[in-house]
Amino acid sequence: MKYSLLLTVGAASLLAGCSKNDDFTPAVGMDGEAIFRAACIECHQPDDEGYYFELSRTADIGKTVRGGGLMMPAFPNIQGEALRSLTDYVMAHSRMAE
Ligand code: HEC
Repeated sequence: MKYSLLLTVGAASLLAGCSKNDDFTPAVGMDGEAIFRAACIECHQPDDEGYYFELSRTADIGKTVRGGGLMMPAFPNIQGEALRSLTDYVMAHSRMAE
């Protein structure tokens, strides 16, 4: 039962063409760190040294946030200055893969 439910949910999101949207909207004046703590940290915990990601050089964080991933929701309401600030924060707290 549990397995078939998972399959159903997975198929539904595949059919929709992308993951669901998260309607989180940053409050005016929230910086990248505040946004990350409010919207991202529940899924992305820092490692022992405080890094969240190991990013490839071609990673496009803005695109990931706006469009989501296979499992990650899209955040269409994080835009403009808020998105730029969030991207800077993520870059500053990630390792770069070789
Ligand atoms: C519900 C859980 C969840 C939330 C909330 C979430 N993510 Fe993700 N994120 C994921 C998953 C799962 C992946 C792995 C890719 C995939 O399968 O979607 C991922 C991947 C990523 C990546 C890796 C992209 C790469 O190229 O390696 C970045 C960067 C990222 N998320 C940033 C964020 C930011 C910034 C936020 C907050 C705005 C956020 N995530 C919120 C689940 C989440």
